[in-house]
Amino acid sequence: MRAAAVAALVAVTIGVAVNEVAGASNYLATCYYGTWAVYRPGDGKFDVEDFDPMLCTHGIYGFAGLDEATHKIKSLDPWNDLYDNYGKGAYMRFTDLKKRNPELKTLLGIGGWNEGSTKYSEMAASASFRQTFIASVVDFLKTYNFDGLDLDWEYPAERGGKTIDKEDYVQLIKEIKEAFKPEGFLLTAAVGPGKTTIDDSYKLTEMAKYLDIFNVMAYDYHGSWETYTGHVSPPYMSPLDITNEMETFNVNFTVNYYLDGGVPKEKMAMGIPLYGHGFTLNDPAVHGLYAPANQPQPACPYTRQAGICGFNEICTMLNEGGWTTVRDPDQQAVYSYKDRIWVGYDDLESVKIKTDYIKSLGLAGSMVWSVETDDFRGLCGFGTKNPLMTAIWTNLNGDIPTPVPHTTTPRPTGPTASPEPTMSPTEICKKAGLNPNPVKKCSPIFYDCVQNGDHWIVTMEVCAAGTVFDGSLDTCVWISQSDECD
Ligand SMILES: *[C@@H]1O[C@H](CO)[C@@H](O)[C@H](O)[C@H]1NC(C)=O
Repeated sequence: MRAAAVAALVAVTIGVAVNEVAGASNYLATCYYGTWAVYRPGDGKFDVEDFDPMLCTHGIYGFAGLDEATHKIKSLDPWNDLYDNYGKGAYMRFTDLKKRNPELKTLLGIGGWNEGSTKYSEMAASASFRQTFIASVVDFLKTYNFDGLDLDWEYPAERGGKTIDKEDYVQLIKEIKEAFKPEGFLLTAAVGPGKTTIDDSYKLTEMAKYLDIFNVMAYDYHGSWETYTGHVSPPYMSPLDITNEMETFNVNFTVNYYLDGGVPKEKMAMGIPLYGHGFTLNDPAVHGLYAPANQPQPACPYTRQAGICGFNEICTMLNEGGWTTVRDPDQQAVYSYKDRIWVGYDDLESVKIKTDYIKSLGLAGSMVWSVETDDFRGLCGFGTKNPLMTAIWTNLNGDIPTPVPHTTTPRPTGPTASPEPTMSPTEICKKAGLNPNPVKKCSPIFYDCVQNGDHWIVTMEVCAAGTVFDGSLDTCVWISQSDECD
């Protein structure tokens, strides 16, 4: 009876929240999550529960992969992604973010830069491989409760792919869309920024028939693969762009090229980087745009890769002082330098310029790569966590909606938060519904089990501080009220 009362209360709360959320978002805010950030050290570690579902309309889990031998979708990190074999179940925990924001769509991204192009080229070239792939995707999305697929094949007909990929890619998304229709799944794709890639890889008007959203990766225009400084994602051209090609290395070019090529503005989410590309200047006295720089910026502490740093790392660095920050009036982009280090990135002013641009063109909305490099812990003094994503949301959609309260109460925060299940689902789920912690009596941890075919979908929950889950009452109670506590 007690449990029923709790359930009724929760149902009422959700009903109110849905209406609030539905009225709030006029523009898409697509948010990619690079899940390997869970392995970053210290304050760089970003787990699913660090994802703020109220700042996004679409969350994309990056990435699943393609199995070369079977042509089926597969987990690239089973221990993190799945609950199988004592795994951490990040897929299910990610799709569970919908409990906090019922308006959130969660998609699974497949591919990404490191997956390469050749496997996708082979799969897309054969009708039977495509069929195998698509069936595996539908099954996968259902199993883990995703709302759709984001295809990140980088790129058709490039990086070892074949010229015919351009046609095969259209055939592939056409067939995926057909299979998705009865399921109500979304099909989106990440598409490249460069003119050459767009020309080589995409038949845009055909793609527009089948894709729900084009996530335009409007960044990585310049970086330490070049021998001079340049901005990761300049909104506009610079008079210093002295070649025809350089004139295309800006957001305004890419967006207009997609629009002119036949992508409807209502289907375009414009990418904004939550990271920067950095360089080591050859001469500290020559520190402008396109200054000689043969070396990347040394690696930052969390991302640990020379030449690329998260906004969280950049804002921490800038707060240490001694930096000169320049906003280029032509590109309308910001960079900072100190001694021999030079880094271009997007700050609050940049995202204002970009979201104003999105609104002025009437695009579908924004996309960010990626949530784990915003100042997600709020350590840089902006007065909020996720300052860039917060600015994007409020500039596009106004107030941030309120999350639906947890079935019990929010998980405790701090270093001991989010303890992870240490057993397989079958050991945890003795019945459908709520189950107590099987290894410890008088514990605040409990599990919500939903049967899906032959396996359990498990969500770990935590009772509020001072309360524990009581198996006989099926709810959280004060420690003094539970017979399970001595
Ligand atoms: C943006 O691109 C459009 C289309 O190419 C062009 O007409 C316009 O001048 C560009 N805006 C700026 C500020 O460069």
